[in-house]
Amino acid sequence: MPATCVVGLQWGDEAKGKIVDILGDKHDFVVRYNGGANAGHTVVWGDRKFALSLLPTGVLKPHVKSVIGNGVVVYPPRFIEEVEKLRSGGVSVGANLVVSEHAHTIFPYHMEEERLAEADGDGKIGTTGRGIGPCYQDKVGRRFGVRVGELLHPKHLRERLNYIVPFKNRILAAFGIGAKAFDANQLCDEYLGYAEFLKPHVADTPKLLNDALAAGKNILFEAAQGSLLDIDHGTFPYVTSSSSLPSGIWPGSGVPARAVSRIIGILKAYTTRVGRGPFPTELDDGPDGIGNRIRTIGREFGTVTGRPRRVGWFDAVAARYTATLADVDVISIMLLDVLSGLKELKICTAYELDGERITHFPSDSFRLERCKPVLETVPGWSEDITTARKLADLPAAARNYVDRIAGILGKKVAFVSVGPDRDQTIVP
Ligand code: GDP
Ligand code: IMO
Ligand code: MG
Repeated sequence: MPATCVVGLQWGDEAKGKIVDILGDKHDFVVRYNGGANAGHTVVWGDRKFALSLLPTGVLKPHVKSVIGNGVVVYPPRFIEEVEKLRSGGVSVGANLVVSEHAHTIFPYHMEEERLAEADGDGKIGTTGRGIGPCYQDKVGRRFGVRVGELLHPKHLRERLNYIVPFKNRILAAFGIGAKAFDANQLCDEYLGYAEFLKPHVADTPKLLNDALAAGKNILFEAAQGSLLDIDHGTFPYVTSSSSLPSGIWPGSGVPARAVSRIIGILKAYTTRVGRGPFPTELDDGPDGIGNRIRTIGREFGTVTGRPRRVGWFDAVAARYTATLADVDVISIMLLDVLSGLKELKICTAYELDGERITHFPSDSFRLERCKPVLETVPGWSEDITTARKLADLPAAARNYVDRIAGILGKKVAFVSVGPDRDQTIVP
C-alpha cells in the first residue's frame, strides 16, 4: 500500500499536527522521520488540546502505531515526560508507540553546547535550545553519537560515555564562558534509568515499516519543521539540522521514496517564522499594525518556547519553491479565519533583488535578506468564517483568496482550515 506524507511548506507551525490528526484515522502507522522535541504539533478536539513535541501525533489514537524513526533525535527525559503526560490525561500509550533503535540520543552536553553557541550574538540562530543541532553533529561526525539501541547495553554505554564525556567537557570549556562539566558515570546511571522506560518501545523500525507496507498497511509520514528550515534547501544557516522535506523520509525511516505516493503540503494563509533569518514578507509594523493583529488573533506564540512568532503576508515565491522541492500533490490552506476582518490582503508574487525583479526563491540567506517583496493586493472579508464547513459557506473574497494561492502554485486544495478544532475543516 502506498504511503502519504504531510509536510510544512513554510518555516514551520503551518498546522501540520491538525492535518496529521485528521488523516491519522485512516492510517495504520504515523511516522516521524526528522527533528526531535524542537517540533510542537497541536491537536484540538473540542475542549481538549494536545501539544506533541517528540511523539508522533498518531500517539493520541491507540489503534495507530506511532513510530519515531531513525532520523529523529531523542531526548529520553522528554520522551518519558510526554508519555506520562498523555497517560495522566487518559490517553493509553503502550505497544502503539515505537522508537527506532537507530535514532540518536540527546544528552545534556548537547544542550549545553547549544546554549553556549547561542550565547554568541553573531552566531545566534535562534534555536529551540533542545540540543537538536549538536546531536545531529555527533551523528554525522560518527565519533560521539550514541543511538537509542546502545542505551540498552549497560557495559557498552558506560564505555562509550567514558570515552565521549571527557572530550565534551574539553569542547565545552573551550567556549570560555562558564560551561557546565559532566560526569560520565553519573550520566550513564541516569540514562540506564531512562533505558528501562524506553526498552519496551525500542525496535528495528525500518523492518517494521517495510513489513507493514508489504502487508498492505497504510503509513502516514509526519514531517517536523517546515521546508524552509530544511538543512539543505532552507534558508541556511537559519535552518534546523535535519531534512524536513519528504526527501528525509528514506534516510529517516528506511522506507524507500517510491513507497510515498501522496504528498500534502501544508501552508498557513499567511507566513510565520520563529527564530532568526530572512523573512521578505515580514510585517514589522508595530503594536497597532497588521502583523501584531495577526499574531494576536492567530495566537502566534511558539508551542515549544513560547516566543512570539514573526508574522508576514503569504509568500507565494517561497511556497512555489517548497511545493516544487517537496513535489506536493495537493496543498492545505490553514488558519484562513485569522485573516477575517482585514480590508485587503497581500500576496507576495515576486521579489526585487538588487533592482531586478525575480520570481524564483534565492535560498541563500545573504541574498534573500536583500529581497523586497512585490505584493499583489486582493480584497479581504469581514465575516467570521469559523463555522464554515464547505467552500460555499465562505464569503466570495475568502474563496478567491484560496483560489488565488492555489492558482499561483498550480495545486489543488485538499483542506481549508477555519479554526483549530478538527471539525473546523473544509474538504473541497
Ligand atoms: P504545526 O507545528 O505545523 O503542527 O503547527 P502548530 O501546532 O505549531 O501551530 C498551529 C497553531 O494553529 C496551533 O495552535 C493550532 O491549534 C492552530 N490552528 C490550526 N489550524 C487552525 C485554524 O485553521 N485556525 C486557527 N485560528 N488556528 C488553527
Ligand atoms: P514544527 O514541527 C517552527 C526553528 C527554530 C530556529 C531553527 C533552528 O512545530 O513546525 P532548532 O532548535 O531546530 O535547531 O532551531 O528552526 N524551528 C521551528 N520553527 N516550527 C518548528 O517545528 C521548528 N523547529 C525548529 O525556531 O529558528
Ligand atoms: Mg509547531
